[in-house]
Amino acid sequence: RRVVVLVSGSGTNLQALLDAVAAEGPAAYGAEIVAVGADRDGIAGLERARAAGLPTFVCRVKDHASREEWDQALAEAISAYEPELVVSAGFMKIVGKEFLARFGGRFINTHPALLPSFPGAHGVRDALAHGVKVTGCTVHFVDDGVDTGPIIAQGAVDVVEEDSPEGEAALHQRIKDIERRLLVEVVGRLARRGYRIEGRKVLDP
Ligand code: GRF
Repeated sequence: RRVVVLVSGSGTNLQALLDAVAAEGPAAYGAEIVAVGADRDGIAGLERARAAGLPTFVCRVKDHASREEWDQALAEAISAYEPELVVSAGFMKIVGKEFLARFGGRFINTHPALLPSFPGAHGVRDALAHGVKVTGCTVHFVDDGVDTGPIIAQGAVDVVEEDSPEGEAALHQRIKDIERRLLVEVVGRLARRGYRIEGRKVLDP
């Protein structure tokens, strides 16, 4: 399966996918990454893609007259690589209706909290501020809400005393250790066997 990955940051989730494809081989893993896109320049995620010899593209909101035009341009840029699957791996933008009409059902996202708790851009910080004892990460299909789509897989991480609000980075690191493994597992499974979505439930095909 052809996969396009979208990033906005350090790209460690992208790297985990690249490493999995390299280690297992595209045929055994079931997926190959054909391009990496971003909503901004100068991020490590794009460097990782280039280092792996992959084509990259950048689609910035501010280069477009409206959010709708940006959404459309992003969808076009992705379509050029004819992917069967699009993965948001730390891509910090909400896509619009046009985009979902095109990629809905084959667009997944990874979020650093146990959804439906703590959606949005600050999942780790919000979980810490709430004082939860367990948090984690969620890989889910993207729908038209913010982190509201059908949940594919989740991993739990204990919050420890030391995770003061200042400890957000440390907790995020522990979440990301689990998140990378979960994403690699889900993308491989999605590529090899797919899932069946029944209402909110994601089930075996
Ligand atoms: C991940 O924890 C993702 O869930 C969150 O941002 C982080 C991205 O990390 N939205 P990276 O760019 O893959 O290193």
